[in-house]
Amino acid sequence: MRTQVAIVGAGPAGLLLSHLLRREGVDSILVEAQSRQYCEQRIRAGVLEQGTVDTINEAGLGARMQREGLVHHGIELLFGRNRHRIDMTGLTGGRAITIYGQHEVVRDLIDAADAHGHHMFFEASGVSLHGLAGDAQRDRPEVRFMHQGVEQRIECDYIAGCDGFHGVSRNSIPASVLRTYERVYPFAWLGILAEAAPNAAELVYAHHERGFALYSMRSPSITRLYLQCAPDEDLSQWSDDRIWSELKTRFENDGGWQPAEGAILQKGVTPMRSFVAEPMQYGRLFLAGDAAHIVPPTGAKGMNLAVADVRVLSQALAARYRDGCTDLLDAYSSTCLERVWRAEHFSWFMTNMLHPSADDTPFVNRLKMSELNYVTTSEAAARSLAENYVGLPFAA
Ligand code: FAD
Ligand code: DHB
Repeated sequence: MRTQVAIVGAGPAGLLLSHLLRREGVDSILVEAQSRQYCEQRIRAGVLEQGTVDTINEAGLGARMQREGLVHHGIELLFGRNRHRIDMTGLTGGRAITIYGQHEVVRDLIDAADAHGHHMFFEASGVSLHGLAGDAQRDRPEVRFMHQGVEQRIECDYIAGCDGFHGVSRNSIPASVLRTYERVYPFAWLGILAEAAPNAAELVYAHHERGFALYSMRSPSITRLYLQCAPDEDLSQWSDDRIWSELKTRFENDGGWQPAEGAILQKGVTPMRSFVAEPMQYGRLFLAGDAAHIVPPTGAKGMNLAVADVRVLSQALAARYRDGCTDLLDAYSSTCLERVWRAEHFSWFMTNMLHPSADDTPFVNRLKMSELNYVTTSEAAARSLAENYVGLPFAA
């Protein structure tokens, strides 16, 4: 097979890239290791930045998100038994976030690809990348894989590595040209999805001496909650009763609010990591999304960064095919990394401020409380938090 851009991975990055390229008249073929159903049902992110919402709307994909997404204008920080609201819209000149599950975004993208008869291979195995560094005239980039027992090869001009943190793309770059930066946190999140109508209007991020907790939602009948836990937490030790009891303790407040309970539909443990690989390009291979960088989830930035990367990449590839100009492609890595490092810092800052850790000295504990007091009492500090949380605007 032959195409202009071979895309590895059908997460938000790969699927949105193929959609944006199609709108620019650039051909692509997508190769994914998992089944279509698995991709559509994987419960992950839920917070879309203003820029992500704008990108989805501009791409003509926003109809269901506009109907079903929940627009939020603030978040709450709960500590010392008090709830403090950060007025994101007021502090950012009108920007907001939308709560709409990542799997819904993925579903909308797969439906759009189907409607256009887009070429996608699900359940591909043994995916490998070739001809990345060479002169494309002699040494063409190629993606090879097995599909339904048949070996397949896609010859292309460029490869987009959108295959997440554990994919093959980043590891296809020689170690000598890749620089990586990493921090692994000494805690994780135990996340649940519950059949309970949300009884708070906005997300609640709680700092409690027993650990962080987050109240979020997916729809008018489903809540999403997280509890700080150990990285190797044994889920079998967490009965539904124990989860609700711990959540109630960590959300204790003088106003008496408690998260509404309901049947727990799903439980899982998410490790916490900060990671950046530089550069995000090697020859004809461009990395996008979690393949290049990971943030701890406290800042709700992971999927939004994936969308920002492919927005830049689709515009750069469109310019290359439209005008033959590679300036934007050459600048891809440095353009993306500027936003990536801002999000890395914000995610680290939110994680650090909101999670007590066994390693914290009493001095560090007091610093965290001081930071929480500051962002909820100083308008300047609250504005800085808000502008990062709703997402910085894209460069024109
Ligand atoms: P992925 O979604 O990981 O997609 C990569 C795809 O590549 C997968 O489908 C995978 O199956 C496929 N693949 C892997 N290896 C191969 C291979 N060898 N060949 C072919 N295909 C392969 N982000 C936010 O913005 N907001 C949030 O609120 C938020 N909350 C989160 C909560 C949780 C519990 C978790 C786990 C994550 C959260 N994130 C959040 C992060 C967000 O989910 C990720 O950053 C996002 O999925 C990245 O998209 P991606 O397309 O780059 O990678
Ligand atoms: C959700 C996840 C996050 O990481 C976050 O910061 C806020 C909300 C969620 O899954 O709803």
